[in-house]
Amino acid sequence: MNSDLGVRALEILRENDRGGYTIPTKGLYPFQWNWDSAFVALGFATFDEDRAWREIESLLEGQWENGFLPHIVFRRDDPTYFPGPNEWGTKKHHWIPTSGISQPPVLATIVRELYETGTQSLVRARVKPLFSKMLAWHRWFHLNRDPDRTGMIATVHPWETGRDNLPDWDEPLKNVDISDLKAYQRKDVSHVNQDMRPQQFDYDRYVRLVHFGRDCGWDRATMIKDSPFWVADVGLTCILLRADRDLLALAQALGETEGVADLEHWISRGEEGLDRLWNDAVFGYTSLDLRTGKRTNMLNGGTLLPFYAGVAPFSRIDALFGHMDRWWKRCEFGVPSFDPEHKDFDSIRYWRGPIWAVVNWLIARGLEGQGFEDRAARVRENTIQLIENAGFRENFCPATGVGCGGHDFSWTAAIWLNLKNKKAARAAA
Ligand code: GLC
Repeated sequence: MNSDLGVRALEILRENDRGGYTIPTKGLYPFQWNWDSAFVALGFATFDEDRAWREIESLLEGQWENGFLPHIVFRRDDPTYFPGPNEWGTKKHHWIPTSGISQPPVLATIVRELYETGTQSLVRARVKPLFSKMLAWHRWFHLNRDPDRTGMIATVHPWETGRDNLPDWDEPLKNVDISDLKAYQRKDVSHVNQDMRPQQFDYDRYVRLVHFGRDCGWDRATMIKDSPFWVADVGLTCILLRADRDLLALAQALGETEGVADLEHWISRGEEGLDRLWNDAVFGYTSLDLRTGKRTNMLNGGTLLPFYAGVAPFSRIDALFGHMDRWWKRCEFGVPSFDPEHKDFDSIRYWRGPIWAVVNWLIARGLEGQGFEDRAARVRENTIQLIENAGFRENFCPATGVGCGGHDFSWTAAIWLNLKNKKAARAAA
């Protein structure tokens, strides 16, 4: 391990630790974020197993009674962030203020990893109480984001996909009416270069969608029927499908019978749903606007997640690898978050091109699992190299490798620790 970077990665996790939970980065993101915390646990697990479990336990303290697990847990207010707890208006739902949307459910997959690789005398006791909470969250996802039981997982807000600013959302966002949006002040652009952040057009619609949820009290039926944004996402569909498989494996390992039949059912439905997102126009899996019935015809990092979901139909593998190779030819580093040959590609604006260590981790994990070790190794090495060159940045330009967005990011540090640890274990084997 490059020892300076190894030391720095640990320091970042410690510096961003707020006592049992970790913020993604100072300034830009001062609270606990959902999928960030799951990835952070992977990093802690390389040197402090107890702290890794604590991260997950504290995230689950934000869970509502109906199983919903929010994308942000606001343990204290912080005027440097917008939209804060008052904009979300979730007070009546939970004792800790939270946001009203969720985020990609990577948690069960990471918990399974911690369970299988951790100290056996410790892990069983830690994972047991988490099982029913994760099951309740998955159930919430299926009920609230796939009410028609198609297996395609939809969302009411781009932020819920975790890939906030993808060009995929541009068309569907045009249907969000902002005529009654009151003046507000963005805070993100005071922390990070504006060219790396969403445009005002998008931001206004993000805020309007938050207010839509708040004004209906995050009511399930209203959200499903009337949310101005209702789009099925390949990323969420793949990540939940994988998480259902991992939760099922955990159920078997723990001898849990609760939820097993449901998990099996959700898995087969998820496979059908993913198949529905296949798009012959671009030979890839793409998002689908469920309000208008329009497919996006755009390829993004999510296009390569079917491997992670455990779905790699033989007839489609060549097409997926064709995209991957095309992207690698264009960009020195992989994997860009959006198709570099598309006119809307932007190498530094977030989610419209830059590389994210966490998405690379998911892609590599999927490729490894399906036996494509060479490609997985290349994605892992790209990730390590980017961090070695540019540090623990929020994301990286795929053309130059330059670091973009915020600095000293917890999940980038965590992924680096995990990748380096695994690499050392592989070399020793
Ligand atoms: C941005 C990312 C999101 C992440 C959050 C905190 O909003 O788009 O995926 O969870 O930052 O790092």
